[in-house]
Amino acid sequence: MESAAALAETDRRYLIHPLHHPRDHEHPILMVEGRGEMLIDADGKQYIDGLSSLWNVNAGHGRKELADAAAAQMAKLAFASAYAGASNIPSIHLAEKLVKLAYSSSSAVYFTTAGAESNESAFKIVRYYWKLRGKPEKVKIFSRVHAYHGVTMAAMSATGMAAYHKNFGPLVPNFLQVPAPYPYRWAGNEDPGIGAADAFERALLKEGPDTVAAIIAEPVMGAGGVIVPPATYFPRLREICDRHNILLIADEVITGFGRTGRWFALGHWGVEPDLVSFAKGVTSAYLPLGGVLISRKVHQAMQEAPPDQKFMHAATYSGHPACCAVANANIAIIERENLVERAAVMGRRLLAGLESLRDLPNVGDVRGLGMMCGVELVENKQSRAPAIGLGGRVAREALSRGLLIRLRGGSADPAIGDTICVAPPLMTPHETIDRIADILRASIVAASG
Ligand SMILES: Cc1ncc(COP(=O)(O)O)c(C=O)c1O
Repeated sequence: MESAAALAETDRRYLIHPLHHPRDHEHPILMVEGRGEMLIDADGKQYIDGLSSLWNVNAGHGRKELADAAAAQMAKLAFASAYAGASNIPSIHLAEKLVKLAYSSSSAVYFTTAGAESNESAFKIVRYYWKLRGKPEKVKIFSRVHAYHGVTMAAMSATGMAAYHKNFGPLVPNFLQVPAPYPYRWAGNEDPGIGAADAFERALLKEGPDTVAAIIAEPVMGAGGVIVPPATYFPRLREICDRHNILLIADEVITGFGRTGRWFALGHWGVEPDLVSFAKGVTSAYLPLGGVLISRKVHQAMQEAPPDQKFMHAATYSGHPACCAVANANIAIIERENLVERAAVMGRRLLAGLESLRDLPNVGDVRGLGMMCGVELVENKQSRAPAIGLGGRVAREALSRGLLIRLRGGSADPAIGDTICVAPPLMTPHETIDRIADILRASIVAASG
């Protein structure tokens, strides 16, 4: 076998990576195997996959059943167009299953292959909807500061982290941002949920609701630092959307498929979205797949569209049979092993373990919902000033102790500093859950010294 060093050399020569910078790629980790919640690198070293890789390996690694589902479908029918007038069996079964699992208002699904493509599709669907309903001027899309919606042009324009905009401007016009319900950093005296929702209403009224199509929101902000909204936020946001005829797009690319302890997350607050973007956990990452669930009213408008107004949106791999077959098998695993309920229980255990880190001088905030948690690092607990650079050192210490995590902040958002994001696979055993908090404690202590 080629040595890891030789492979890394060839990689540096020929590969451009997401978030590419050569300085960040001097010592790439080369993973060669995954088992459950563990990853194994080319040197045989084992790591806890503390972020389910990229928040996506919900069912854990090494599920032969998913490999078999892909192989069986590929051997029988690797691909067939799903453009109108044609279909395939796995995508039909998956569509029905998703509609039944999602919100009571969910009615149909359009398939994509990734999160950003799901959001691009959602933006086009809301504009299409309003045009079909005789309101062609409703085009603007609101999103929130700290949001992450992907990096294609419109998804990037909705993403609320300036680092993702730098060097790629100009942004797509008609994308606007409002404050996030971020309790730890909320400056006002009011409840941050009410305050953030009302800030949206003020911005909406300023723009003119007749020009606004939708607002997109992650139920729990993921890449922005696992920001869990107060319980007041989404009910108020829904009310404002209803009052002003605005569609609510839930970006559940991370929060879908059990991550927060529910199949989809807005149920925590009894809220129904008009559209749901999903990806990642739908296949537990074994093959790329995403999609947009649409509610009954949007579905009805699309079904009633006259022939000269058809939905001219498409992608070669929409409804890809092998990806949909893997998703069907993955959902069967999540159901059979009760991984959604497990995420709720283990998530509480994970959060309790992380809460115990609050005695450390650099731990400013600990938060989470289900199996997604954040530990925000600060220079000073009173001022809440960000601890610039500490997160990077903690991540390196954790890595050396066999724990993979991800940071919000650092160079991507220096104004608010670093948050350690933790979101292990939903099947992670409780011994590993407890080890995560132990390793993080040792890593923060070592990095702060
Ligand atoms: C909430 C959210 N939306 C969208 C995306 C983009 O997904 P993808 O990278 O599959 O395009 C991500 C990716 O992390 C995400 O977390």
